[in-house]
Amino acid sequence: MKFTNSKIGAINPEPKILLAPLAGFTDSAYRRIVKSFAAGIVYTEMISSMGIFYGDKKTLDMLNFSEEERPIAAQIFGNVPDKLAYAAAFLEERGFDMIDINMGCPTPKIVKSGSGAALLKDLSLVKAIVKSVRKAIRIPLTVKIRKGFYKGQNVANEVGKIAEGEGADAICLHGIFAEEFFKPECEDWDSIRSLKENVNIPVIGNGGIKSEEDVLKMFEETGADYVMVGRATLGAPHFIKSADTYIKTGKKFTLSLKEKLYIILRHIELEVDDKGEERGIKEMRKIVAHYIKGMKGASHYRAELNGISTKSDMEKMLFEVFGKYEEA
Ligand SMILES: Cc1cc2nc3c(=O)[nH]c(=O)nc-3n(C[C@H](O)[C@H](O)[C@H](O)COP(=O)(O)O)c2cc1C
Repeated sequence: MKFTNSKIGAINPEPKILLAPLAGFTDSAYRRIVKSFAAGIVYTEMISSMGIFYGDKKTLDMLNFSEEERPIAAQIFGNVPDKLAYAAAFLEERGFDMIDINMGCPTPKIVKSGSGAALLKDLSLVKAIVKSVRKAIRIPLTVKIRKGFYKGQNVANEVGKIAEGEGADAICLHGIFAEEFFKPECEDWDSIRSLKENVNIPVIGNGGIKSEEDVLKMFEETGADYVMVGRATLGAPHFIKSADTYIKTGKKFTLSLKEKLYIILRHIELEVDDKGEERGIKEMRKIVAHYIKGMKGASHYRAELNGISTKSDMEKMLFEVFGKYEEA
């Protein structure tokens, strides 16, 4: 397979596989762990433009990142063009390499506020937002969309044209309607191919990747310049490296159990360093649950995780989980 020669503004992502924004997961620790293997671009979790505008502490706490994460995109959400522009300029000043606008989040809370995928109901607002943010920043600008809000109303190509016309540097499409939420059977890669054929800016394909083979298939079937992966990295931070290796050599990249344990312990350490033990361990519960999925006694340990609140207890549990394999 041949990759395209595209760039996103001045950014030349390598590999061509990007880490998706996953609210509640892809904080700095998560991004550093994935990036220690490979990722063309990493994205922050979605950040409220209003939160930035009003200087909300919780929002500002989400903006920390380290140099090793570059190139890093900050993803913002909102529905007021000048507030999104303010947030984008603020984030450029903070040192982010790229701004991405969330136009795809289907969760009721976000949609009710008129943000995320709700924007796909009002394409004149989409245009005003891209125009306004474009004027405010010099770094690359992208939009991340779904193929439409309402089932059956595909607006992806139209949004692609608007984004391109207003100076966006790339467009990311999750080929599913917001009303379909996250139903695996609704993933539609033809919509990604169609978008690629309809715009001249790079297209980032996204959605429904479960295996290394799927990544290759998405590149081949859609012609996308980049593939963005989210859930497949949960519990498998080496997934992007493995997929890239698979495309280039036909072989996958795997981790030994010992390496995996080391990565989890490192992830916990980074998280606790960043957020303190109480919050860090609380957040690591769901992440560790993904890491141990499929291992012996996983369901028992997943339940136990909910009661764990210290780093040492979490480490102890992990030694127990992984120890079962040494005994065998
Ligand atoms: C837990 C979770 C959190 C997500 N958070 C965001 C987000 O903050 N911003 C965004 O644009 N998409 C978000 N998404 C959507 C993903 O970025 C991605 O588009 C979607 O999961 C499809 O890709 P995948 O099949 O590779 O996971 C989220 C998805 C999940 C499952």
